[in-house]
Amino acid sequence: MNYNNILVEEQSPIATITINRPSKLNALNKETIKELSKACKSLDEDSEIKVIILTGSGEKAFVAGADISEFANFSVKEGGKLAEKGQKQLFDLIENLATPVIAAVNGFALGGGLELAMSCHFRVASDNARMGLPEVSLGVIPGYGGTQRLPQLVGKGRAMEMIMTAGMIDANKALSYGLVNYVVPQEELLGLCEKLAGKIVNNSSVAIGHAIKAINSGFNHDTNGYAAEIKAFGKCFGTADFEEGTSAFLEKRKANFPGA
Ligand code: COA
Repeated sequence: MNYNNILVEEQSPIATITINRPSKLNALNKETIKELSKACKSLDEDSEIKVIILTGSGEKAFVAGADISEFANFSVKEGGKLAEKGQKQLFDLIENLATPVIAAVNGFALGGGLELAMSCHFRVASDNARMGLPEVSLGVIPGYGGTQRLPQLVGKGRAMEMIMTAGMIDANKALSYGLVNYVVPQEELLGLCEKLAGKIVNNSSVAIGHAIKAINSGFNHDTNGYAAEIKAFGKCFGTADFEEGTSAFLEKRKANFPGA
């Protein structure tokens, strides 16, 4: 597939999506959101791909936010629609993807950029990364899930402070907050993400998909996480991956999961 704003590199079982608008610090315009959504769906449907790494091009930015030039003249109705469509099209989609998505935060992750990183299943940052939700400095609030996912990840008080001050935190503070799982020099960022992806692909992709669903259920007010876990746990018993995983353990060999 050809895209104008993103690059997709598949090295099965790992795919890397690079947001590629470096002159605009990879800001998310409408077209980029659409392309990211399409690429994520297509990689999720590809049974050869077991992990997706999402990063930004260049050395300066992961994503410096939603493209401010696109919504500066919006009405109340258009503003609401922008958030609703974006959440559904991309941010909720990534969070609920059965294929794990790792955000490789290689620089500024601001506004929609941090919201995008937070919709990924976990984050790894380079030591030059800076993160924040500066929306109130523009007279608006985070609209791509930031008011919900930031407190989930760092706690309510820290999220309140970050959102109210519109300030940025550096990579080490993000690490101490639990917003990112690791901080490494920029040249080691993709290597570490690939190493983590390498550990993930050894496991049952079907079980991982169920685990993502069960974990997310606990953060959704409409679902009961424990009930979702019970249902997902039961479903695992009907999978070829479970048969292979348990047989391999009992036969003292490494499992070779069929992914079904
Ligand atoms: N939307 C649209 N364009 C953006 C953008 C965004 N969110 N963030 C950066 N850009 C553009 C700039 O307008 C500039 O374009 P130009 O060269 O055509 O003028 C280009 O990217 C480079 O940015 P610049 O501001 O010159 O880089 P800098 O190193 O001086 O500053 C930042 C970097 C990240 C501090 C600064 O770009 C910034 O504050 N961006 C907006 C962050 C934000 O508020 N995001 C939340 C949006 S809801």
